[in-house]
Amino acid sequence: MSSLLITGCSQLLTLRGPVPRRGRAMRDLGLIRDGAMLVDGDRIAAIGPRRKIEKLPPARKAEKLDLGGRVVLPGFVDSHTHLIFPASRANEYEQRIAGKSYQQIARNGGGIRATVSKLRKSSPEALKARASACLLQFAANGTTTLEAKSGYGLDWMSEVKTLNVLHQLHQDQPLDIIRTFLGAHVVPREFQRRPGAYVDLLVHKWIPSIATAGLADFCDVYCDRGAFTVPQARRILSAARACGLVPRIHAAQFDRTGAARLAIELQAASADHLEQINAADVRALASSNVVCTLLPGCCFHLGMEQRAPARELLDAGAIVGLATDFNPGTSPTNSMPMILSLACSQLRMSPAEAISAATINPAYSLRLHDRVGSLEVGKYADLAAFDVADYREIPYYFGVSLCSMTMKRGVVVHPHNS
Ligand code: NIG
Ligand code: FE
Repeated sequence: MSSLLITGCSQLLTLRGPVPRRGRAMRDLGLIRDGAMLVDGDRIAAIGPRRKIEKLPPARKAEKLDLGGRVVLPGFVDSHTHLIFPASRANEYEQRIAGKSYQQIARNGGGIRATVSKLRKSSPEALKARASACLLQFAANGTTTLEAKSGYGLDWMSEVKTLNVLHQLHQDQPLDIIRTFLGAHVVPREFQRRPGAYVDLLVHKWIPSIATAGLADFCDVYCDRGAFTVPQARRILSAARACGLVPRIHAAQFDRTGAARLAIELQAASADHLEQINAADVRALASSNVVCTLLPGCCFHLGMEQRAPARELLDAGAIVGLATDFNPGTSPTNSMPMILSLACSQLRMSPAEAISAATINPAYSLRLHDRVGSLEVGKYADLAAFDVADYREIPYYFGVSLCSMTMKRGVVVHPHNS
């Protein structure tokens, strides 16, 4: 097995410590100044101060990689993306700027259903090519693991097409992709007059088949005004849970329908969005193990005033995560550093809290915390190096790409082909 000694980490953020992170522990990044790491194959064999690591006998024989004084942290774990879609919706962006709301556009034939019509007609090859290009951008911004949802097919063939493309991508390119079935994204047009029949189809046919075929690990429901109700989401996610698919929920983005409480009731891995929750919801989430995955890219892109109560969640001791929600309707970004900037400037998270929320906590929400999310002996050598002097500069410089190197399982994946 090849051995690699990585030095030149002016700040090495290990994120070692308790999993998941809550409260004050979210500010502890396990920082080592002038750090080094010994990588054996795809795993971390040793990590600590350079002087100590350099002296280890295997370090002497190892290949050397000097990062020249960069800030190094675990590769980002992006726990909420809609990676597979056929085209942008820049036309809707322009309409929203001119004053139309996200819901008005959806009612007029745009929104999720517009993407669904296009995806149904797209070949798997075309979807894969588009997603592959996006994955290079994810890697270029320091992401090494991502979750990806179906949900733009909404018929059996197109949902399976999406999940199969995700499987191929997981095999063919370096980043790890965890699959979530989101058949309950919206009620498809052909079921618009009988949503109950669509829920029956999901519960009795599609979810058991997806689970049996091993096409996904998680099941998500968009539980909100204009999508699925709490009773429908309860049925869908209970069926998923019974088949071994772990629930995640799009909750309280536009309306406080009770989806956040449902996430707790069902012991969901994650409740995502949470812009509309109240103080009692904050308390309930804080005393649960549900990861509160905040998606500030949506508020930014949609120009929404109402933000998720990040400060309240953090201060109450909730497990807070951050993700891009990469999708063509509400958050067309694959930059976790941009999400960190928004989390700090708009949600008042500290840079350290934001980094914990972008690494170890989302790893926990994907049940991957034994392999990714922190830099510790035995875990994957998944890391991102930033061309900054201090980790706080990662969110501070917004909208610029300062990630100078990304490594996935011991292999440099950005810059590409170097
Ligand atoms: O997470 N809200 C539901 N799903 C996406 C939006 C998808 C779309 O508009 O295409 C979200 O924001
Ligand atoms: Fe989403």
